[in-house]
Amino acid sequence: MSYFSVALAAVVFIVLWFTHRIYQFINLHFLIPTPSAQLRRYKPESSEPTSSRSSNASEPVTWALVTAASGGIGYGYASHLLSLNFGVIILAHSGVPTAISRLLTKYPNASIKGVTMDSITATTSDISKLVSSIENLAITILINNVGSMPMEFPHLRPFAEYTTAGIDDTMNLNARFMTHLTRALLPHLTRNAKTLGCRSLVLNVASGARVGLPYVTLYCATKGYVSSFSHTLTREFKYLNSPIDCLLIVPGDVHSDGNCHGVAKGSPRALEYGKMVLERVDGAVQRGLLEVSPYWVHALQIWMLDRLPESVRGRELARVMEGKRGAYLEAYEKAR
Ligand SMILES: NC(=O)c1ccc[n+]([C@@H]2O[C@H](COP(=O)([O-])OP(=O)(O)OC[C@H]3O[C@@H](n4cnc5c(N)ncnc54)[C@H](OP(=O)(O)O)[C@@H]3O)[C@@H](O)[C@H]2O)c1
Repeated sequence: MSYFSVALAAVVFIVLWFTHRIYQFINLHFLIPTPSAQLRRYKPESSEPTSSRSSNASEPVTWALVTAASGGIGYGYASHLLSLNFGVIILAHSGVPTAISRLLTKYPNASIKGVTMDSITATTSDISKLVSSIENLAITILINNVGSMPMEFPHLRPFAEYTTAGIDDTMNLNARFMTHLTRALLPHLTRNAKTLGCRSLVLNVASGARVGLPYVTLYCATKGYVSSFSHTLTREFKYLNSPIDCLLIVPGDVHSDGNCHGVAKGSPRALEYGKMVLERVDGAVQRGLLEVSPYWVHALQIWMLDRLPESVRGRELARVMEGKRGAYLEAYEKAR
């Protein structure tokens, strides 16, 4: 074979590979299943499709447990799950009753249960009791959404200025709680999937910040933990032929209760983002992905960030974080 033929074959291969990647990207981010097809694999075959259920349908067969669901993106997950006729268990710290009444205004016949629990201080015994209290519900979806930077202002600060409580609280909230909750709920997710003849789902929420940003060391580090934890579970479930799917969500900037200053222009709002995530879960799971950034702009940003030379990447990330820190400082001064 001549050099020319080898070069031509290489070019054709690269073009085909890129075309395939672009096709996959468009397919995943823009070809959304209809509501009646969304998350169907986490309901029994016999359950009626969303569109055909009457408004006063009886108790739903399948439930989802969503942590940090009284506000922010978690509220968006809860709202979209209710629109798909899942029952939803809302776990949060203080705003559970208000969130339930807001959701019931939107979905008057919805099945919602509330759990008030502080994910920072909850003990393993609290988590076991919680799981026992809901084990009679056919839960097939767990969304490990809780995560933040639980520190007094300024919560964006150099690592040297972290308090010991700030370190422990961030690790407890972002990593410890979801680890114990997942382990405690796995037997139920497995049993429910087998009994109902469907699959179960664990969604874990990381962040593009796992790349490592100045001023939020522990947040980034715990999101790195969540990423590795989730990838491992996905592989282990497949290897052990478990009836549970596991997927990592990697958001970029989203305008939420917790992230409301210095948010990048054009970022989605929490409610719309929650829906956007759940609409893309089926596509990601069917492709066997370990993770997905459901908003296409985030996916491109993260893809490009990974390919920048470190000299450029480090400078850009620092610039973004200085902007965010400045925005929080300004809001803090205004509120005083
Ligand atoms: N927003 C973003 O730009 C972004 C980007 C990347 C990743 N993420 C990740 O996405 C997830 C959701 O983010 P978000 O921006 O929606 O967060 P958020 O707005 O700060 O979340 C608010 C929710 O967290 C609950 N919560 C706070 N502290 C809690 C505690 N100690 N125990 C139990 N619940 C607690 C609140 O409940 P109460 O009000 O009832 O206490 C409320 O339901 C997080 O894991 C976050 O790291 C977000």
